[in-house]
Order: sequence, then C-alpha cells, then structure tokens
Amino acid sequence: MPSPAVVQEIDSLRERLDSWNYQYYVLDQPTVPDAEYDRCLRRLVELEREYPALLRPDSPTQRVGAAPLERFRQVTHEVPMLSLDNAFNEQDMLDFNRRLQDRLGDGEAPLEFACEPKLDGIAVSLLYRGGVLERAATRGDGSTGEDITHNVRTIPSVPLRLRGEGYPQVLEVRGEIYLPRAGFEQINARARAQGEKMFVNPRNAAAGSLRQLDARITATRPLEMCCYGVGLVSGGDLPAQHSAVLARLQQWGLRINAESLVVQGIEACDEYYQRLAARRDALPYDIDGIVFKVNDLALQQRLGFVSRAPRWAIARKFPAQEEMTRLLDVEFQVGRTGAITPVARLEPVFVGGVTVSNATLHNSDEIERLGVRLGDVVVVRRAGDVIPQVVSVVLERRPPDARPIVFPASCPVCASPLERAEDEAVVRCMGGLVCAAQQKAAIRHFASRRAMDIEGLGDKLVEQLVDEGLVANVAGLYHLQREQLLALERLGEKSADKLLAALERSKHTTLPRFIFALGIREVGEATALALARHFGSWEALAGASEEQLLAVSDVGPVVADHLRQFFDSPSSLAVVAQLREVGVSWPDLELAGAADLPLAGQIWVVTGKLEQLGRDDATAQLQALGARVAGSVSARTTCVVAGPGAGSKLGKAVELGIEVIDEGALLALLARHGMAP
Ligand code: IVH
Repeated sequence: MPSPAVVQEIDSLRERLDSWNYQYYVLDQPTVPDAEYDRCLRRLVELEREYPALLRPDSPTQRVGAAPLERFRQVTHEVPMLSLDNAFNEQDMLDFNRRLQDRLGDGEAPLEFACEPKLDGIAVSLLYRGGVLERAATRGDGSTGEDITHNVRTIPSVPLRLRGEGYPQVLEVRGEIYLPRAGFEQINARARAQGEKMFVNPRNAAAGSLRQLDARITATRPLEMCCYGVGLVSGGDLPAQHSAVLARLQQWGLRINAESLVVQGIEACDEYYQRLAARRDALPYDIDGIVFKVNDLALQQRLGFVSRAPRWAIARKFPAQEEMTRLLDVEFQVGRTGAITPVARLEPVFVGGVTVSNATLHNSDEIERLGVRLGDVVVVRRAGDVIPQVVSVVLERRPPDARPIVFPASCPVCASPLERAEDEAVVRCMGGLVCAAQQKAAIRHFASRRAMDIEGLGDKLVEQLVDEGLVANVAGLYHLQREQLLALERLGEKSADKLLAALERSKHTTLPRFIFALGIREVGEATALALARHFGSWEALAGASEEQLLAVSDVGPVVADHLRQFFDSPSSLAVVAQLREVGVSWPDLELAGAADLPLAGQIWVVTGKLEQLGRDDATAQLQALGARVAGSVSARTTCVVAGPGAGSKLGKAVELGIEVIDEGALLALLARHGMAP
C-alpha cells in the first residue's frame, strides 16, 4: 500500500507538470527550465512504476505508450463537422454581410464578428467526458471520421484532463492540429539526413504524422493544436458569444489562437484581413485565409446552415502559395563560381501573388529526389519573397511522353569538364574564367551596386561586351574605349559617356567594397568588411597566412581556404595588379580594437525580410559594431532581428526566450551608435 506521503507527492507532481504544460503550450509563457520539468517527469514515472495502482490515464506520463494499432476505428460525429464557404475578395465579404442582415432582418446596425486565422492543418474533434480526454477523431467526411486518440494524446498542447472547473460533463472541442513551420523544417531536415521521404508542406506533414498507427512516431513530430469551436455539449452551459466560449476553453487548458479578435462591422473585417495578410509570412505557422464568424451564438442559431456549411461564417482565402503547372524545359545555368543550377521553365502560373515561369530545381540530387521529368505536371510553391520552388510531381498526370532530365556531361557554356566535390551537392564547371558564363557573372558581380557600383553596366551590356570579345575580365572594363562602346548595337553616345564616367568614378572605392567585388568564393559583403577591418590594407590581407585569416571573426576553414587559393593564383593576382595599374584605389582602414566595440562579444542572428536595410547591410553594420552574426539560433544568441517571413529561427528564439527585435528597433540601435541606414 502506498503511504499518504507517496500519494501526495504523486498528486503534487502531476499538478505541477500539468500547470507547466499549460503555461508553456497554451499560454506560450514558459515558467521553469526544461531540466526541472524533466526531473519532475522522471520522478513521477519512477513512482508510478513502483505503485502501478496509482497510475491514471490522464497522468502527464501517459502521453505515449499505447501499443501500435492494427487499423483506425471509425467514429461517428453526433454533431456533424461542417466546412466553410469561401470568399475571395472584398465584394464576396460585402455579399456575405448583406445575406446576414437580410436574413436576420434586424436593421443595418453593424454585426459583431469574431476574426480568426484559418490554420492550414487537420480538423480534429476532442471529446472530454467529466473533464478527461476520452476520444480524438479526424473530421473525415464530416459525419464519420477516424479515431486518432492514441496520436493526439502525444500532443503537448492537448490537455489530457481539463483544468479548473465549470466545464460541461460532455464537451466536444474542435480545432486544427498543425505543424509550425519550424517543426516542419526540423522533421524534413531529419528525414533528409536519414535519406527518408520528405514532406511537401507543413499540412501534409501534419496529416502524415496523425495518420500513424504507432503513436511513438507521432510523438516525435512537434504538432500543435489550436481550438476554434465546440461540437457536442451536454451537462453544463457555455457563454453566449463565440469569443467568450473560446476564452473559457483557454481557461480549461485548451490552446486558442492569439491573433483572434472581435470587431464591429464588415469593414473592420477587411481591415483585420489586410493586417494579417501583411504579416502572413512572419507568422510561425501557415495560414490560408481568415475565418469570420458572427459572434453572437443566438444569432448563429437563427442563421443556421445550408447543406455542409454554416450561414454565420465565411473563410476569406489568401492568394494560393501553391499551384500546379507544367514543366516545359530545364535549363542549366552557370553561376559566378561555376556552379551549375538546373532551372525549371514552366508554363506561366499565378501563384503567391505573381506570375511565375521559372523555378529553381537546386541540383541533380533534388531532381532525383523529386523524380521529375520533362512534361510533368508539377506543384510550384512561392511563399513570401522566397524564390519559387518545385515541390512535387503530380504523378497521376504524367504524360506518356514525359522524358527524363539529363544533366549535362560538360559545361553547357564552355564545354569544360564538370566536377562534383565530395560531400557537396553542387556540380561545377572547371573552366574558371575561360568560361564565358563565369566571366559574365564575375563582371556583373564586380559592377553591382554593393561592390564597385558601376552604374549603367547592366546585364545586357555585360553580355555584349563578353560576347564581342571586348572584355574578358574585370580589369578589361577599364580599358574600354569610347569608339568600341559606340560600335555596340543599341548603345548611344549618351549612355557610352555615362558608362565611362561611372567607370572612372568607381576607381575611388573602399577596401571592403574592393575585396567583395573580387567575388572570392564564400566572401560576401560581411566577410569582406571583417577582413578589411582586421587587416587594414590589401597588402596585409594578401600576405596573411591561413592561421592569420582564421583569426578574423567571420572566417572559418572553408573561407580561409578560398582566400588562400585566390592569393596563390597568379592569374587572380594579375587581375588585381591590372586594376591597381589603371588607378583603382582605396584608403587603408584604421585597425579597430575589436574588444572596444559596443557589441563586442555578442552573437546576433538576422532572419526574415528587412525592408529598409536588407539583411546583408544589417549583418555588415552589426559586425562593424563588433557583433558576431550567426546563421542559426542557439542558447548563446544575444538577440534575433526578425523581419516578415522569419520562420524557424524566430520560432527557436521564442522557444529559447531570446530577445527578438524588429527592423525599426535595429535601426534605432544602429543610429544610437552612429551608423546610418
Ligand atoms: S470553423 C462550422 N475556424 O477550415 C465551422 N475552421 O474550410 C467549421 N479551419 O474544416 C470550422 N481554422 O479545418 C473554423 N478558425 C477556424 C479555422 C477553421 C481552420 C479549417 C477547419 C475546417 C476548414 C473549413
């Protein structure tokens, strides 16, 4: 027999663990360190093992453990799970409002609406009896779904037992189970590392995770649940407004969406829609629209349903981020470093708010992973500012004459051999500056705004200059004659003079710009700045040993290696000598005492889109103030700058309780330290 002390300890452990879960998963406010949570959970497991008679199904230890099922049991929804009518524009919303007011006949006073993001996940029903989770089921066809209780029990934001009191004896809660973007990236990274099949998007990953017979697999997927309504209710009462019902659910331990808002009138619904649309890419989860519901439950009752959807609610959809189109061709582009990138040429399709006719296929591994062929119907995704991606192939629609994609055996531009470095997915042309594609890319980069800033030297002109044999490397630009330019097609006197003046101006540059302009592999703007600040002069940099290079904050072994290769290459040094000969020059820099800088010793991460500054600039300026700018968030991160579109890094920062600031706050901080935007 367990002593009263043991019973009390078990009770107290369960109470604490439940409460921490609630704080963490439902309120988003972690209260104790993970280690303390783990200690208590371990202790509870230990006690329950010793006293099995005290084990209860709603104990926080009982989230995983059920044996794998043979198949899913069918579940009948006593109250059918409905779907929603869609609206695609403001007019559809006005029509919706008109229908409501006409049907209610209560006059023209603005109606009250509850606005909620439409999460892109899987609709689920949770049945609580006496406050204990009895059953979880999918929506299925609305009247019959599948019993997924064993899987749903593994989701930390789903309470196994309701908190507090006053809940109805039978309470069916409905909501969406979804994977936050960070979780999606995490499980795909894991799948990639283990050579397993990757998921196409967070929704598919959530569905796949819930459709597991073995709950131990589901338990490894960081799923979350957000509740948006109730189904069957008996033996108790609920408040009279939808928003108040949700607030009550939250008190009972269920997670609701933090963006939910009650507004008056249909115009305010439009404002809410616009506000959230602007933040869509910055949210930590995918949403495909906004749901608007008449808030008063008595009015909902009067409005009723038409076939499968309520009259009192509507989903205003965002423009789709995924569409289907046909893969017409694949072109192989040669980049500045010789990297060969397969680019999909697509039948133009409107997706993510723009017309897309090209998408990246990354590399040959990706083509293989997708199993894509020429002529296939493919799913294209464009989210935020990310370049469009081919995410999957619609196999059912493969035409009989679909042809395999053949990776070229030699460089498609200069016919030099290709090489694939060990442990790299990239195939490169070995032609170096013999390759016209690499010549052009190197010149374009050299002339770009953030490098030598040669105005008037656009892509078309670079093409012409290289194709006509007028320029073969960046030094050649400074030997261009006015007559040569005038002989080019479509280049007038004015443009020629402007270009020559811009070339002349560009000779007065800075050391960081010059280093960056050379296009040394892996040496971006931020690294160039760090190198310039560290060495102060070109001579000191070019003469630095590998060890000395590694002493620079931003430089690791790979970068050091590329730098040494550059400085050991006679042809590269010859180009630099030619540039200096024609008068390219810069002042040396004063060496900064790194430890004196205001952000010395701090680690920053920049993620998402920065509207004013751009990520590269932000990085360079933070580094100039002494911060190290890292590519991933860890417990050692000092601060994260997050703009729209921030994904997993933002999620991780929030999870770790690291300070997150937006671009405005960064600009203010930079300004305080005398940096200009
Ligand atoms: S209410 C009777 N609210 O959208 C109303 N649904 O197209 C039924 N969904 O099956 C649903 N977020 O999976 C509602 N805040 C939200 C929602 C939401 C996502 C999904 C749900 C439903 C589908 C209907």
